[in-house]
Amino acid sequence: MEERVVTNHELESDSFEKTIRPDSFDEYIGQTDVKENIKVFVKAAKMRNTNLDHVLLYGPPGLGKTTLAHIIANELGTNIKTASGPTIEKSGDLAAILSTLEPHDVLFIDEIHRIPRYIEEILYSAMEDFKLDIIIGSDGQSRSIKIDLPPFTLVGATTRAGDLSAPLRDRFGIVSKLEFYTDEELSQIVERSARVLGVKIKKDAAKEIAVRSRKTPRIANRLLKRVCDFALVEGKDTIDLPTVKKALERLKINDSGLDSTDIEYLMSIIKKFGGGPVGIESIASSIGEEATTIEDVIEPFLLQEGYVKRTSRGRIVTEKTYREFKINEQKTLFDYDY
Ligand SMILES: Nc1ncnc2c1ncn2[C@@H]1O[C@H](COP(=O)(O)OP(=O)(O)O)[C@@H](O)[C@H]1O
Ligand SMILES: [Mg+2]
Repeated sequence: MEERVVTNHELESDSFEKTIRPDSFDEYIGQTDVKENIKVFVKAAKMRNTNLDHVLLYGPPGLGKTTLAHIIANELGTNIKTASGPTIEKSGDLAAILSTLEPHDVLFIDEIHRIPRYIEEILYSAMEDFKLDIIIGSDGQSRSIKIDLPPFTLVGATTRAGDLSAPLRDRFGIVSKLEFYTDEELSQIVERSARVLGVKIKKDAAKEIAVRSRKTPRIANRLLKRVCDFALVEGKDTIDLPTVKKALERLKINDSGLDSTDIEYLMSIIKKFGGGPVGIESIASSIGEEATTIEDVIEPFLLQEGYVKRTSRGRIVTEKTYREFKINEQKTLFDYDY
């Protein structure tokens, strides 16, 4: 499969994202309920001079979980140490990070649903009693050590809250779900990013990027970046609507903001599985994607927008999808030109 221009994955090398990442609550656009609540909790923790309660942020990729974790540390005025679930393999890995924490620091664990179960168990007492209880060494040589930790805040991020064990989930005092953004919020994000990047963009051009970004800031920012490239090469000093339209056409983003992967997913259900119901594994092998990628990255937006539905017997595409591709449900398989 071709590389997805608007991929939801964070790229290791993407310093671009860091450049335009807001670093205060005031610059963090949208997510009003989540933001206002966390603001209060941060303020209260500072007034009491205690650590902030542990925070779990969940929702589809690109909606601002990592950004919010950094903002929390900034607003607390503490350090942030970051780790990612899959990279914590041994209890020693976790101990190494925990032992660097200073009082009230933030420990950010991304993809927290992917830490091994026995590491999770070590986290329980770290989160609850600020004690680290680990066994080091192997076989006959092993011994258990206990280390006192300073009070800290664990901020966990996940695309799948359902995959966390109940005991881990229960240890988060603050659990917040990030939602898809409105077009208006995304317009503001695009305009802000353009300002930070020092490029001029017309209002209608920003709006056009917004409505074609799968309701996701990461995608809006990536599209803006690509559009900037087109504008630069064409010698335009202000990004206008025609430039955006042309760029998006070249990037194969359709008028509804669906990209080639979305289209491939939906068309595969229609073409190969008669519109469904079809199981996730069958779709996965038909389009050459991991089932988890489909569930975490591709589907949330398509479900939210009503292009596809989940039923007990599998996925089915909706009226809206047939209309989107101007396909008559009765059409024969030979008539598709996708
Ligand atoms: N509320 C927001 N306001 C402005 N920009 C945002 C917001 N949320 C996310 N972004 C931008 O989108 C990009 C992706 O956000 P990120 O926090 O990495 O998402 P996640 O961790 O949920 O995958 C970041 O570069 C950030 O600049
Ligand atoms: Mg992230």
